[in-house]
Amino acid sequence: MSYCLNPDCRQPQNPEGTKFCLSCGGKLSLKERYRAIAPIGQGGMGRTFLGVDEDRLNAQCAIKQFLPQFQGAALAKAKELFHREAVQLFELGEHPQIPNLYATFEQDHHLYLVQEFIPGQNLLQELYQSGPLSETQLREFLLSMLPVLQFIHDRGAIHRDIKPENILRRHPDGKLILVDFGVAKQGSATALAQPGTTAGTQGYAPMEQLRGGQAYPASDIYSLGVTCIQLLTKTPPDELYDSLRGRWIWRERLAVPVSPQLEQILDKMLQEFVKDRYQTATEVLQDLRAGEQGSRGAGEQGSRGAEAQGSRGAGAQGRRGAGAQGSRGAGAQGSNIPPKPPTPPKPPTPPKPPTPPTPNRRDHVNLELEELRLSYSQAQPASPVSPGPPPKSTVGQKTASSDPIEADLEALRTEFGESS
Ligand SMILES: Nc1ncnc2c1ncn2[C@@H]1O[C@H](COP(=O)(O)OP(=O)(O)OP(=O)(O)O)[C@@H](O)[C@H]1O
Ligand SMILES: [Mg+2]
Repeated sequence: MSYCLNPDCRQPQNPEGTKFCLSCGGKLSLKERYRAIAPIGQGGMGRTFLGVDEDRLNAQCAIKQFLPQFQGAALAKAKELFHREAVQLFELGEHPQIPNLYATFEQDHHLYLVQEFIPGQNLLQELYQSGPLSETQLREFLLSMLPVLQFIHDRGAIHRDIKPENILRRHPDGKLILVDFGVAKQGSATALAQPGTTAGTQGYAPMEQLRGGQAYPASDIYSLGVTCIQLLTKTPPDELYDSLRGRWIWRERLAVPVSPQLEQILDKMLQEFVKDRYQTATEVLQDLRAGEQGSRGAGEQGSRGAEAQGSRGAGAQGRRGAGAQGSRGAGAQGSNIPPKPPTPPKPPTPPKPPTPPTPNRRDHVNLELEELRLSYSQAQPASPVSPGPPPKSTVGQKTASSDPIEADLEALRTEFGESS
């Protein structure tokens, strides 16, 4: 089977061995090498396909087709950002929980990104198939995902769209893989140039991202927090927040209560204001590990399938005092365990230099990408260290002066009359 990549094609399914679409006549192979087999996802900025790489014995790959709804200068800028972000993804790909990038190119006026195919399901699919996570499972989820976030943030990137659909559980080893990186996110950010559009996904993205288009490491931590409460309750984020009272109501939706320590951690991840949240993924990890011993008992009670045993209300009964009922900002005050003494401030860790891609990983990445990476880094030699205005915040914010992509976005916003 081959799948026609022409978005207007009416009969995209084609039999094996066909070179041109039998319905629209479009070419079925990309770069005489990659062929789409079936669609696996559709988002605001494009479509994702399961594909094969004919040059590598038909090995599976994921093909992402970028279909921005822009014209003229905005389209040109979106394409440029796509390329730059592909370079970023290439560099970020040096992590076992991030798919490897194989190629990026333009064909028939569409931009493509070819990456490692991850067999398995995304966590939203899994949630609706297997039920909510127990505390133990949720802790394992966090222990697996937080180091990936720290890895990304250490390299000056922000994912901006953490949610269950963008986390895949690889089959058969069960490893969690984070997908949907910068490319689409910058595309969405480009859409900020259009009034009324925002970066990230409503329900998961924090205020600073939705309102101002600003994202910090703490923004990803917030989205990871929303993901956690969705995985614990099997309830969409919109139904976990009482907008009349301005508070999270996820505890009320638990089939089995979680430990006060985990409640505190989630509360802190879900704080409305950046400054009240964890600032780094490592801080969350530290708290999580500190509480691992104490929470083990409570964690064992809840397991997938517990939903069937207890009504949703049962979770609420099992909770501690009313103070625990997560108003935003309640944080640690809400639980009946004594508040922890403040952690002494740690000396700032110098940022790690980006890990250079290893030569063997470059073998299957096309030369075009390599050239792009080189030309881009040569064109921007001084910007990461050039002096600029002081950052508005101390939480690792990317400023216009330090981030050429942000600077471009800023220029776009100005061009399209949107103030950030
Ligand atoms: N590398 C991959 N391997 C296997 N499946 C993938 C891969 N990348 C994405 N998917 C699947 O395709 C779905 C959509 O992909 P992705 O999240 O990258 O884009 P999107 O959300 O459709 O688009 P947008 O970029 O506009 O947000 C994912 O939820 C996941 O189920
Ligand atoms: Mg996605």
